[in-house]
Formats: sequence, structure tokens, C-alpha cells
Amino acid sequence: MAQSIAIASGKGGVGKTSVAVNLALVLHQLGSRVTLLDADFGTANAHILMGENLRPTAEKSILANEPVKNALTKTIHGVALLSGGSTALNLLDLKNQERLQLIRKIEALDQETDYLIVDTPAGASDATLAFVAASDRILLIVVGEPTSFMDAYTLLKAAHLEHGIRSVSVMINMVRDAAEARRHFDQFQAIALRFLDVELTLAGHLPMSLPLRRSVVARRPLMSNPGTAQSIEGQAFMTIAQKLLKAPKNAPNGIRFFFDNEKNEV
Ligand SMILES: Nc1ncnc2c1ncn2[C@@H]1O[C@H](COP(=O)(O)OP(=O)(O)OP(=O)(O)O)[C@@H](O)[C@H]1O
Ligand SMILES: [Mg+2]
Repeated sequence: MAQSIAIASGKGGVGKTSVAVNLALVLHQLGSRVTLLDADFGTANAHILMGENLRPTAEKSILANEPVKNALTKTIHGVALLSGGSTALNLLDLKNQERLQLIRKIEALDQETDYLIVDTPAGASDATLAFVAASDRILLIVVGEPTSFMDAYTLLKAAHLEHGIRSVSVMINMVRDAAEARRHFDQFQAIALRFLDVELTLAGHLPMSLPLRRSVVARRPLMSNPGTAQSIEGQAFMTIAQKLLKAPKNAPNGIRFFFDNEKNEV
């Protein structure tokens, strides 16, 4: 049974794509079959971070009435990538119905993938909410700024009130250490729990990382370098992967990537 994980944030530019790509690689390195869906349609860039050229027909195949397999790009990193590319203007204005059809179509990957990682667009648009609500687990990325907190809260509130999402893992990006991450998490949690009946888990943090930034410029994911596993970033991604997979699953009603009869299994 495949499991889906949405990587989300309220504010843009806080590290969703960097985390989605490296988390996908870590899960693959742990022995899982992983598919990465770049759901940031119109400004998709996961393939750029991965140094991959997409199939020329990827954009058309994602939307067309053809098997989802036709739109998959097998990357050199061992992760399958489902993306329409950065010029996919047709995907930018996806209607709600088309989006839901795409989500349903991905269910066909159930037998050949263990984890579907979904890189969602920033904000709390219908698109973001549809992908978040369709996922078993959600990793919300926050940085230690009031704007990031407020935008993340807006997304959390909409996901909770409109789709019944209760369980969300939170990752604090670009912090000095675990203590600073914990402080930010506690602040964010205090705001959220005052108004929403949600359950937040701190999944970990990433430091401000020059190697991570360089890896984006070099179009080679940090976790693709042998030896990175022992680095601060490598250990951070491993912690995030492990904690995230232990978090309870959401199972709201509505269209989902994969349907699971055994709710809340670990
Ligand atoms: N921990 C970190 N240390 C240093 N730089 C980082 C870190 N996390 C992300 N970045 C940098 O921040 C920039 C934005 O990251 P990324 O593209 O992953 O964010 P995003 O949330 O996907 O953005 P968007 O909302 O535009 O999709 C990139 O240049 C990336 O290298
Ligand atoms: Mg992004």
C-alpha cells in the first residue's frame, strides 16, 4: 500500500522543493520505491534541482486521458519524477475537476511505489489544499519569521476546517540548532492550538546550509553525494524521514491519492 506525503508551507521560498527532493532521495536510499510529484504546476522546478530533463511529452501526458506511467521520468537518483515541467502553462490553470482526476489517476502507482512525495505550491490555494487533503501525511515547513508563522497558520486552518486535517508534522528550516527549532515550534504550536483542534509533531529541523544552497546551484541534490549521510544535513534529513513516517496518518473523506482501509497504521 503506497503512502503519500505532502510537503507544504504557507510562505514561498522556505525550502519545500529542496526538502521534497532530498527526502525522496533519503527514502529511496533506505530501500523504498519513491515517486516525487511536482504539484507546483506552472513553476515546477524539482527536475531542475535534480538535474533532470523531463520526457518531452510529460506535460501532455499528465493531463491527457492516458496512464500516469507515460508521464513518469525515471531519474538517475532512483526516484521516479512526475512533473509537467516549468513551462507547463496548461497545468497552471488546472480546474478543480482536472486536478481531482489527476489525483485519482495517481492511484495506479499503488503497486509500484512505496512513497509518493508531493511538492505543493506555496499558500493556501485550492490547488495546495486539494493535494494536502489527498495525502496521508503532511510536512509543514516553517522558518522563524512572523510571516512564515502566519501563512503556515492560514494553510493549517484551511486544511483543518475545510478538509478535516488533524495531524501535521512540522519542520523548522534554517535555524541554528535543535533548541532554536523547538522554540519556534512551541510558539507556532501555541498559536495553532489556541484556535484549532489539531495535533502537531516536530519532525526536525535543518540548519542554514551552504552545501544545500550550493547543491541547488549545481543541480545535484545534496543527498545524492556519497558521504553526505554522515553530515549535519544528512542526519537531519534522516531524522525528518523517520519522525515523519511515525506520525499518525490523516484520513479525511474526499478524493485521496491512495485509499487505506487500515486507518492510522504506522
Ligand atoms: N536549510 C537551508 N539552508 C540554506 N538554504 C536553503 C535551505 N533551505 C532552502 N534553502 C534555499 O532557499 C531557496 C528556496 O528553496 P526552495 O526552492 O526549496 O523553496 P520552496 O519553498 O520550494 O520555494 P517556492 O515556494 O518558490 O516553491 C533555495 O535557493 C534553497 O537553496
Ligand atoms: Mg518549490
